[in-house]
Amino acid sequence: MDPSGSLPSLLVLIGALLPVSGGAQVSVFPSEAILPRGGSVQVNCTASCNQSAIFGLETELTKEEVDRGYTWKLYKLIDVQENSTLHCHSTCHNKQTMASTSLIVYGFPESVELAPLPSWQPVGENFTLSCQVAGGEPRAHLTVVLLRGEQELSRQPAMGKPANVTVRATVLAGRGDHGANFSCRTELNLKPLGLELFRNTSTTRQLQTFVLPMTPPQLHIPPVLEVGTKLTVCCSLRGLFPASEAQVQLAVGDQRLNPKVTHDKDFLLAMASIKVKAEEEGTQQVKCVVTLGTQSQQTGQPMTIYSFPAPNLTVSEPEVSEGTEVMVECKAHAGAVVTLSGAPAWPPSSRAQMLLNATAEDNGRNFSCSAALEVAGQVLHKNQTRGLSVLYGPRLDEKDCQGNWTWQEGSQQTLKCKAWGNPSPELNCHRKRDGALLRIWDPILVKRDLVGTYRCRAVSTRGEVTRDVFINVVYQQNNIVIIIVVASIVFVATVTTATCLYNRQRKIRKYKLQEAEKGTTMKKLNTQATPP
Ligand SMILES: *[C@@H]1O[C@H](CO)[C@@H](O)[C@H](O)[C@H]1NC(C)=O
Ligand SMILES: *[C@@H]1O[C@H](CO)[C@@H](O)[C@H](O)[C@H]1NC(C)=O
Ligand SMILES: *[C@@H]1O[C@H](CO)[C@@H](O)[C@H](O)[C@H]1NC(C)=O
Ligand SMILES: *[C@@H]1O[C@H](CO)[C@@H](O)[C@H](O)[C@H]1NC(C)=O
Ligand SMILES: *[C@@H]1O[C@H](CO)[C@@H](O)[C@H](O)[C@H]1NC(C)=O
Ligand SMILES: *[C@@H]1O[C@H](CO)[C@@H](O)[C@H](O)[C@H]1NC(C)=O
Ligand SMILES: *[C@@H]1O[C@H](CO)[C@@H](O)[C@H](O)[C@H]1NC(C)=O
Ligand SMILES: *[C@@H]1O[C@H](CO)[C@@H](O)[C@H](O)[C@H]1NC(C)=O
Ligand SMILES: *[C@@H]1O[C@H](CO)[C@@H](O)[C@H](O)[C@H]1NC(C)=O
Ligand SMILES: *[C@@H]1O[C@H](CO)[C@@H](O)[C@H](O)[C@H]1NC(C)=O
Ligand SMILES: *[C@@H]1O[C@H](CO)[C@@H](O)[C@H](O)[C@H]1NC(C)=O
Ligand SMILES: *[C@@H]1O[C@H](CO)[C@@H](O)[C@H](O)[C@H]1NC(C)=O
Repeated sequence: MDPSGSLPSLLVLIGALLPVSGGAQVSVFPSEAILPRGGSVQVNCTASCNQSAIFGLETELTKEEVDRGYTWKLYKLIDVQENSTLHCHSTCHNKQTMASTSLIVYGFPESVELAPLPSWQPVGENFTLSCQVAGGEPRAHLTVVLLRGEQELSRQPAMGKPANVTVRATVLAGRGDHGANFSCRTELNLKPLGLELFRNTSTTRQLQTFVLPMTPPQLHIPPVLEVGTKLTVCCSLRGLFPASEAQVQLAVGDQRLNPKVTHDKDFLLAMASIKVKAEEEGTQQVKCVVTLGTQSQQTGQPMTIYSFPAPNLTVSEPEVSEGTEVMVECKAHAGAVVTLSGAPAWPPSSRAQMLLNATAEDNGRNFSCSAALEVAGQVLHKNQTRGLSVLYGPRLDEKDCQGNWTWQEGSQQTLKCKAWGNPSPELNCHRKRDGALLRIWDPILVKRDLVGTYRCRAVSTRGEVTRDVFINVVYQQNNIVIIIVVASIVFVATVTTATCLYNRQRKIRKYKLQEAEKGTTMKKLNTQATPP
C-alpha cells in the first residue's frame, strides 16, 4: 500500500492510454467486449490523424483485417477461448500511440448433472445431493443451486473452485420427500457485465422415501392343518410408508403363494388361500416377507400338516333280528387311539371291537367311535357314528298299556296305550262285546256306554299281540238320588219334630192356665178365711 511505488507506473499507463496532448491519438472500440468462449469479436482501431495512419494490433489471438479506412482499421478476432487484452498501436506523424481493449470470455457449463439418488431412502436418515458442474465461466459469476422442486436447499458460489466442481448438500429424508423431484441448477449472472442471468438445469431425479417398522409382520395361521382343508393365510403389518409400495411374499415350505394384497393408510394385509395336499404332510415353515424400499421384515411360523381320516366304524349288519349277534368294529389310522362306545378303552389301540347280542333295547342305538391323534402337541378327534336297527315285537305290556281304567262320566279322558316294536306295529282296540272302536291317544268325552272290555291288537310284519283293557265308567247320577233321599229324610224328620214340639207346648200352656185359675180361687178363699 505504498503509493510512492505504484503511482509512477500507473501514470505511465494512463499516459499510454490517454490521448497524447497535441498529437494523434488512437482509440479502440469497444473498449471492453464480453463474448462467449470460442466466439469472435470485431474491434475498430481509430486514430485521430489528419493523414493516413499505420495500425497494428498486438494479440495472441487469431486476427484478421476486415476493413480499413484512412484513420481506422477493423479487425476480427476469432475463436476467443479466454480473457485477453488487445493492444492497438497507431503511428501518426511518427508518433506511436496505443489503446487497449479487454475481452472477457464467458462460458455456460458444459454439463450440470445431479448424481443419482438412492432408489429408496429410509425416512429419518440423511442422504447426499451431489451435483457435478463441468466448466462455466467467469467463475466469479457462477453459482450452483441445489433444489427440491422449486425450493432452494443450498446455494454455493463456484468462485475459487476447479473448473469441474462437485457441490454437495446433506438432506434429511422425510415422508414429504417421497416423489419429490430434486435438481441442480447453475446460475451464470452476467447482469453486471451488461448481459443477463443464464441458467442451466440438470435433469431432475425423483426420490422415493419409505418407512418399514422394526416389528416383524404378523402371520395368522393355525399350528396344525389337515390335508385337504382350505386355509386363508393372512399376513399383516402396520406402520408402513408408503404401504402401497410394499411387496409381500408368502410361502408354505417351498411353495410360493400368490397373495392378494390390500392396504389402508399405513396398514398392509396379504391373504392367500391354500389347500394342502397329501404330499405336503409334515411340518412346514410358513413365511411372510414384507419388503419396502431396501429393507425387509419377515416372520416364519411352523405349521404341521397332517392327514387324519375319520375312523372306519362298521356294524356287521345294520338291521338284525332280536337275539342276533352283532359285531361292531372301529379301525383308525395307525397312530391314532380309538374309543368305541360301550367297549373297554384299555389297552389303547388303533382298533376296537365288540360283540353284542342284539336286544330290543339296542334298537336305534348309536355306536360311536372316537379316534384321537396327537399332532404337534394337540390332541385331535375324529368321530364316526353308526346306528343299529333291531327288529322285534310287537309288544304290549302293562307299563305302556294299563289294563284297567276307571273314568268319571262326562269327563275328558285319553286312552294311553303304546305298542312297541320294530317295525312299529299298528294298534287298534275294539270292544269285545260289539266290536266298537276305541280311539287311542285322542281325548274322548266319557259316556256311560263306553264301559266294556276292549281287545287291543298290535300288528307288525313280525307278528301280533293282544291285550285286554277294561274301561269302567262311574255314574254320577247315583249320588243325586242319595242326596234327594237323604234330603227327604231330613225334611220329614224335621217336620215331624217341629209338629211334636208344637203340640207339647200347647198342652203345657193349657195346664198352666188351669193351674192359675185354681190358684186364684184358693187365694180368694184364703182371704175370705183369714180375718184382717
Ligand atoms: C471505425 O471508426 C471510425 C471512427 O469512429 C468510423 O468512421 C468507421 O466507420 C468505423 N468503421 C466501421 C467498419 O465501423
Ligand atoms: C496535420 O497536423 C499536424 C499537427 O497536428 C500539423 O503540423 C500539420 O500541418 C497538419 N497537416 C495538415 C495538412 O493539416
Ligand atoms: C443429518 O445431517 C445433519 C447435518 O448434516 C446432522 O446434524 C444430523 O445429525 C444428521 N442426521 C442423521 C440422522 O444422520
Ligand atoms: C470436466 O468434465 C468434462 C465433462 O464432464 C470432461 O470432458 C473434462 O475432461 C473434465 N475436465 C477436468 C479438468 O476434469
Ligand atoms: C475473465 O475476466 C473476468 C472479468 O474481469 C473475471 O471475472 C474472470 O475471472 C476472468 N477469467 C479468467 C479465466 O481469468
Ligand atoms: C416429479 O416429476 C414427475 C415427472 O416429471 C411428476 O410426475 C411429479 O409430479 C413430480 N413430483 C412433484 C412432487 O412435483
Ligand atoms: C446452458 O444455458 C444456455 C442458455 O441458457 C444454453 O444456451 C446452453 O445450451 C445450456 N447448456 C447446457 C449444457 O445445457
Ligand atoms: C342272545 O339272547 C337270546 C335271548 O336272551 C338268547 O336266546 C340267545 O341264545 C343269545 N345268543 C347269544 C349268542 O348269546
Ligand atoms: C376305511 O375305509 C376306506 C374305504 O373302505 C379305506 O380306504 C380306508 O383305508 C379305511 N381306513 C382305515 C383306517 O382302515
Ligand atoms: C342316533 O343318531 C340319530 C342321527 O344321528 C339320532 O337321530 C338318534 O336320536 C340317535 N339315537 C340315540 C339313541 O341317541
Ligand atoms: C368326538 O368325540 C370326543 C369324545 O367322545 C369328543 O370329545 C369330541 O368333542 C367329539 N368331536 C366331534 C367333532 O364330535
Ligand atoms: C279294576 O280295578 C278295580 C278296582 O280298582 C277292581 O275292582 C276290578 O276288579 C279291576 N278289573 C279288572 C278287569 O282288573
